Order: sequence, then C-alpha cells, then structure tokens
Amino acid sequence: MHFSDRIQALKISPIRRLIPYSDEAKAKGKKVYHLNIGQPDIKTPDEYFEALRNFHPNTVAYAVSQGIPELRDAMSNYYQAMGVPYNREDIYVTCGGSEALSFVIMILCDPGDEILVPEPFYANYNTFANTALAKLRPIPTTAENGFHLPPENVIESLITSKTRAIWVSHPCNPTGVLYRPDEVEMICRLAKKHDIFVIADEVYREFTYNAGEFVSFGSIKDAQDRVIMVDSVSKRYSACGARIGCLAIKNKDFLAQAMKLCQGRLSVSAAEQVAAAALYKTPKSYLEEVNKEYKMRRDVLYKGLLEIDGAVCHEPEGAFYTMVKFPIDSSEKFIIWMLQNFDIDGETTMAAPGNGFYADPNGGVDEMRIAYVLKKEDLEKALNILKHAIAAYPGRIEAIKA
Ligand SMILES: Cc1ncc(COP(=O)(O)O)c(C=O)c1O
Repeated sequence: MHFSDRIQALKISPIRRLIPYSDEAKAKGKKVYHLNIGQPDIKTPDEYFEALRNFHPNTVAYAVSQGIPELRDAMSNYYQAMGVPYNREDIYVTCGGSEALSFVIMILCDPGDEILVPEPFYANYNTFANTALAKLRPIPTTAENGFHLPPENVIESLITSKTRAIWVSHPCNPTGVLYRPDEVEMICRLAKKHDIFVIADEVYREFTYNAGEFVSFGSIKDAQDRVIMVDSVSKRYSACGARIGCLAIKNKDFLAQAMKLCQGRLSVSAAEQVAAAALYKTPKSYLEEVNKEYKMRRDVLYKGLLEIDGAVCHEPEGAFYTMVKFPIDSSEKFIIWMLQNFDIDGETTMAAPGNGFYADPNGGVDEMRIAYVLKKEDLEKALNILKHAIAAYPGRIEAIKA
C-alpha cells in the first residue's frame, strides 16, 4: 500500500506526542497537571446553547458555502466595532480557523513556494503548508528578545522570488508575543514592497493583557487588499468544538479563488453557524471577565517562572502560552523524565517540548511551551513541581558540567 510523500512528511503534534507517558503516569496513580495543551477550561456562553436548542428546521440543509448571512453580519459588526472595516462580503465562514489557514495556503502557494513565519511557530502551520507542498521559511526570533521580530533588513533578506506571504500568529501561539504597532506596520510595508500577502492569524485577539496594545493587521489601511485575516470563535468564546472560524480580506480576486474551495467542501455546519452567530451577541462583560481570569493566570505563571533558576522568559504579552528556555539538555527528555520519575505528593507536571515548534530539527531543544489554561491553584502547584523538577533533573546543564 502506498501513502503519499506529503502525508508521510507530516509530523505528530508535539503537544500530543508525549501523551503515552502522561497516560502511564496516570495509570500509576499520579495526578498530571497539563501545561501542554491549549484547551480553555472557561464556560461557553449560554447564548450558544440557547441557539442550538432553538435550531429545529424540518430539514437540515446545506448552508450557503461562504457562510450564512446572519453569522457573516455578526462577524462584520464585531470587526467594525474594533475599527476593522470588513463588510459581510469580505468574510467567508470556515470550519474553524484551521480550515481558513489551509485554504489560504492552497490559494497562495504552488509546490515549492515559500512562506515566511517567525520561528517558533504553531506546529499545525507545518501541516497546512506541507499538504500544499509549500515551504515554511523561518524568521529567527529568540527567548532572550522576548520572541519579537528581528530588524526589517533581516526579514527582507529572507524574501525570494518564491515567497508568497508572511504568516504571523498575533498574539502568538506558542510564544505569547504580541507584535508592537511598529512590527505590524513593518510586516505590511514589506508585504507591499514585495507584492506578497500577510496571513494574520488573530484567533487569540481577545487575549492581550496590557491595555491599548493590540493593533490588528486588518486595521492597516493601505494593506487591506493583501492582509488575509484568519479568525475563530474557538478561543474567544471558549467554543473550540463548535468549529467555526473565518477568513476576511478586502480583495475580491482572492475571495473568488477562496469561493472555489468553500464550494468544494459544500458547507460549514448549519447548526453551528446559527449558534456561533448567537455567540457574537454575548455581552462584552463575558470577554472582559475571561480576559481578567487569563491576565491573573498570566501573572501567576510569570511569577512562578521567575522563581525557576536559569529560566529565560519575558512577561507573556498575549494568547495563553509562553515559550521558556531552561538550563537543560533536552526538554523532551526532561518532560519524559518528569512524568516517569518526579512527583510531589503524587502530582507531576507536563509541558510541550519546544523543538516541535521549530522547522530546524535542532531548534528549541532546551525550550518548553507552557499553556496557562489551568485555574490559579493548579497552576501554582504545577509551577512548583516544575521548579523542583528542573533543580533535580540529572540533565540540568550545571549537573552535566559538574
Ligand atoms: C495559532 C492558532 N491558529 C489557529 C488555530 C485554529 O483554531 P480553530 O481551528 O479551533 O479555530 C489554533 C488552535 O489552537 C491556534 O493555536
């Protein structure tokens, strides 16, 4: 039996690769704090369930391929309110932000074409790019610099005749960086100069913690025909299982190509679109409360990380992740060791190995991605375990040198 090279080239998710080890720890009766996954524990708004309960057509028909008008209007109102002028016709509904991203790569790239992406990056970007036979070209960033972008000339030097887009997660999974307004403008300026697109993955837009900082790529006026904004209700409304997202751009030619893919997969779930439209009616206070909760968790996380000797990290600025560098030989080995050999009162911690978020096989080997989706008390315990585990780990750099 034959499997395609492109499917065989895909990697297992770094977030889930070590699950067998945590299953083993649990089978031995240990409690495992999961800092490896980004599944929010916040309650989905009642508006969603209410709309689903009220959805009872005679026939559950296909919905229009680009999404039901009521949801596209709800999305449009939301963008207009934040100063991004997308109208209904600029927005296509997709099955999560994930489908939007895979559509975008299909639309922009022929085999061998390149997309620049700040590294480390969300591991599924590899999946979306590789299935289209496109190549991700990393823009190097470092823990020491808080994962902010390098100077414009460094990024420009990576642009070739094969470059089709610059792809950013803003705020960023996995690093927690929020790009400053000058960085957002710089990316748009480069895209304009080289006539390429910007893929602005803003699914974590709501999760920024220092007032007035966030600038959407969609708000940059002279780039609106080349910024493809990808969005989702998954994280904003804690509705990951609803599978509703969108792509938006003020470019009719791009949208005409996107329509072919929307029509190819016929429709997004009719019921979920109705329920997602209701989510946009959630009172603002819901988002404010959620933001407050994550800000508190961010503060607990950062305080805990600062207590770990040798950890290199900056205060996370957005999303609910951060990438941290530790004085260890290999984060993968460390996580396995921690799950197998280390606990405090029968409890241990799991994070995601940083290496899986790099294109370079040697990148991020001493880094871990930490998701702060646990409640305060659990987060504190998880970080305390991590701190003591790092100190006890035989592969700690000082331990190796000694
Ligand atoms: C950076 C980033 N983009 C896009 C997605 C896609 O989310 P969804 O398909 O649930 O909208 C995720 C999910 O974790 C993500 O972390």
